Amino acid sequence: MEYLTVALPKGKLFKPAAELLAKAGCDAEGLTEKSRKLVITNEEKKLNFIVAKTADVPTYVEYGAADIGIIGKDVLTETGRNLYEMLDLGFGRCHLMMAVPADKQRQNLTDWAHTRVATKFPHIAEEFFNRRGMQMEYIKLNGSIELGPIVGLSESIVDIVETGTTLKENNLTEIVRIMDSTARLVVNRVSFKLKFDRISVLTENLRQILEEQVK
Ligand code: PRP
Repeated sequence: MEYLTVALPKGKLFKPAAELLAKAGCDAEGLTEKSRKLVITNEEKKLNFIVAKTADVPTYVEYGAADIGIIGKDVLTETGRNLYEMLDLGFGRCHLMMAVPADKQRQNLTDWAHTRVATKFPHIAEEFFNRRGMQMEYIKLNGSIELGPIVGLSESIVDIVETGTTLKENNLTEIVRIMDSTARLVVNRVSFKLKFDRISVLTENLRQILEEQVK
């Protein structure tokens, strides 16, 4: 049997992703987010795990460096990678939205045209604003996006909201919801054909586990 390589993202999705896969029998000793070992192997089950930076997971899967991966729909959409999206895993629920300082609201969304937006998601943001005929200036940040309007780097942000705590703590108000997101199981297009049996059995197991959870 050939090895199956699984890419998992560091950060909030790691734990629920590893736990769900383990329930489906897809696990390895020493698989933690903090491991300095970059590839963790289960020889008996012929599994390799790679733990990557969130935004890199779709890249590993598209190029076939990993056969499958788990990644948020938000990051998947932003990277626009060419791979199969097999399953909505339900966890990691959050949404992408535009927020502005609570004391600087404007009447209409279009009143923000030609202003600066700080975001980790410039492609999704641009598509959203283009559809509304709004030309914006996009400032790509890699974290702590909420700082943008506070330090005068931008007038608004396009970012992820989970509980809303970060927005509240930084006196920002959501003014428009852009997209909802949950974790997805993604598969490399060639691996899906070459390792069809293994990947479809795993997908089916995961689907059943998720269905049981809903009941
Ligand atoms: C995400 C997001 C927000 C925060 C939202 O950041 O960018 O900052 O979580 O969560 P909340 O609504 O529950 O407060 P993350 O912690 O992933 O780190 P980052 O800011 O470095 O991207």
